Amino acid sequence: MSRVAVIPGDGIGPEVTEQALGTVASLGLDIEFDVLDHVNASTFLRTGSALSDADFRRVARGDSALLGAVGDPRVTSPEYARGVLLRLRSGLDLYVNQRPARLPHDDLSPLRDPAKRGIDCIVVRENTEGLYSGVGGALHVASGHEVAIDTEISTARGVSRIIDHAFGIARRSVCMVDKSNAVPSGGALWQRTWRSIADRHPDVVSWHLYADVAAMRLVSDPGEFDVIVTNNSFGDVLSDLAAEVAGGLGTAASINLNPGSGFALCEPVHGSAPAIVGTGTANPIGAILSAALLVGHLGHPAEAEAIRAAVDRAIAAGRRTPDLGGSLSTQQAGDAVRAEL
Ligand code: NAD
Ligand code: IPM
Ligand code: MN
Repeated sequence: MSRVAVIPGDGIGPEVTEQALGTVASLGLDIEFDVLDHVNASTFLRTGSALSDADFRRVARGDSALLGAVGDPRVTSPEYARGVLLRLRSGLDLYVNQRPARLPHDDLSPLRDPAKRGIDCIVVRENTEGLYSGVGGALHVASGHEVAIDTEISTARGVSRIIDHAFGIARRSVCMVDKSNAVPSGGALWQRTWRSIADRHPDVVSWHLYADVAAMRLVSDPGEFDVIVTNNSFGDVLSDLAAEVAGGLGTAASINLNPGSGFALCEPVHGSAPAIVGTGTANPIGAILSAALLVGHLGHPAEAEAIRAAVDRAIAAGRRTPDLGGSLSTQQAGDAVRAEL
């Protein structure tokens, strides 16, 4: 039996998580869910605590976790998202953030040239350091001559383990993305590490792009990418970009992973979408495909593939939420996937 902690979170998080849980439940697998629905922005506003130590331990005790989205317009401080999401990613040392972007149906692509629409890539984002490390501080705050410093950390261990992972999962190629033309120290470390790991994988095509050009190429020719490996902040931006060319942010899934401990936190790439919360129109596909990543990770690859195939068939049959040009509600779109399953 697998035990999975579930944090539905805020905004559309609970709405899409309900569909993801319903989809996994319909498979009849031996997975037990422990739902922490008190971990949300209202609790943070009331108590000042984002994720208590007891709740952190409760999540860590399970085999893996599933998250909807965190974020609320009433919360402006970054301490909330840092306290829940980044605490789980760092505290559980989930150093891989793997975000597949595969176009599920041709008519979802914004690309004009059909020859360029074979989109099936994976953004492998370093998940524990970079600009997200929280190292820095501010001086003379709000004085008119404030100094604010957020340090971008790249460590030999952090860079090598994420690039190693990227080569380990590559099907065809690995594209390393950095800004080594402008960011000297971290850039040199990423370059050196990438070259030496690439030498050990002569079977994998290894190439490099600067982050700005990678953004451009993800739009002009996304089909040329297999695995993209990059740091925390470039990975954040490029995974939203990849999601959009692969059919839309509402369909994008992710897994935060420590390959050593085996713990995984699966979550859609999108956020809590405050503008559409309560309208019943949130697309549940990103959450459902995140549940597929979870199910596959827990040792059920056939069921994971079955969910992905059911999603493709539901989309092909036009059973879609408004963001994909359809008129189904969140619930109906989830039902459509389960009917295909
Ligand atoms: P967002 O991803 O919530 O929304 C971006 C756009 O995509 C909006 O137009 C939204 O309506 C649309 N969208 C997102 N998910 C959708 C879905 N499932 N179906 C249909 N449309 C969808 O990004 P944002 O607006 O920048 O952020 C809102 C809040 O979410 C913020 O507090 C942010 O910090 C947080 N956030 C959380 C996560 C996470 O929990 N992993 C990720 C991103 C943003
Ligand atoms: C994501 C989100 C988070 C991030 C935010 C909410 C802190 O955008 O999961 O991509 O930047 O990592
Ligand atoms: Mn993001």
